[in-house]
Amino acid sequence: MAGFSDLPFRVICREMGSAVSYTPCITDVAVAFGGAKTERLAEFTDCERPVAVQLLGADERTLLAAAERVMAQQPDLVDLNMGCPARRVTSGGRGAALLREPERVRRLARLLVERLDVPVTGKIRLGWDASSRNYLQIARILADSGLSAIAVHGRTRAQQYSGTADWQAIAEVKAAVQVPVIGNGDVRTPEDIDRMRRVTGCDAVMVGRGAIGNPWLFSGRALPDVSFTERLRLIRRHAQAMSDYYGEALGVVLFRKHVVRYVQGLRDATSVRPNLLAAETLADLFKTLGDWWPEEPAGLREPAPGAEEEDHG
Ligand SMILES: Cc1cc2nc3c(=O)[nH]c(=O)nc-3n(C[C@H](O)[C@H](O)[C@H](O)COP(=O)(O)O)c2cc1C
Repeated sequence: MAGFSDLPFRVICREMGSAVSYTPCITDVAVAFGGAKTERLAEFTDCERPVAVQLLGADERTLLAAAERVMAQQPDLVDLNMGCPARRVTSGGRGAALLREPERVRRLARLLVERLDVPVTGKIRLGWDASSRNYLQIARILADSGLSAIAVHGRTRAQQYSGTADWQAIAEVKAAVQVPVIGNGDVRTPEDIDRMRRVTGCDAVMVGRGAIGNPWLFSGRALPDVSFTERLRLIRRHAQAMSDYYGEALGVVLFRKHVVRYVQGLRDATSVRPNLLAAETLADLFKTLGDWWPEEPAGLREPAPGAEEEDHG
């Protein structure tokens, strides 16, 4: 997930039990012409393998050039994103805009499969909008083109991230194609993972927003079963990893959006939030956490009523 699933977070998710890491989507032009910032987006470590580098593209030559460039990093998979709804992406025909051009999808998929010597996968939505739900057509094209797996986010582009993901549609895709299908959308608890598998028959489950502030989801643990001490320790470790990776100033700023999710729903989290968001150094961050939430078991706070629901965005 762009803005969240960077290398430090993915390493934590892997330790918790995630099966495959995806680097955040990057446009083909950014890969082809980008500098150090883009390179960092596609960076991964060996401990994350198997890892997919995910690309956004629309033009065959540019996409292939980008894919060949990322192959230098030896990813285990290359994934074509056909789900990103952002206007800056779709206006160039990339991401979810590809769903409106099935024949282009066929050309791009065939090209990547022919030219890359790693498995190629794809991520789709159900269609552009409610009146153009062409997920079965697109899934069949991808399977016929030789893709090794298809991840299906059970929403249309028009839905963005709202409404409920349609898991029945994912079940239809699973029934329609022979390649592995990865179910995605509204998976927030270990029960959701089981239910997604049961309802859709999918071969694997992809977790999105449910992992933010809750990487324990990958270990099959329900958030209420994770002690506050464990949460605090992981917050500290994650913050330290961000600081080591990006440098302290940038790492702490980028960690702010994670920390507010880690503490969301806990007692007094609302009052401590401004200080967490204002932290500029690890010392600021740890002091705020320590003042609010001493690590002694006796000092641990109870979750606020309803915290369980709030903890999952
Ligand atoms: C902030 C944000 C960034 C995302 N970035 C990506 C991305 O880079 N690649 C991708 O395939 N999906 C991306 N997604 C979509 C998620 O992977 C997922 O498909 C979607 O959120 C639905 O799953 P969920 O309901 O479990 O969150 C992003 C979602 C969010 C909210």
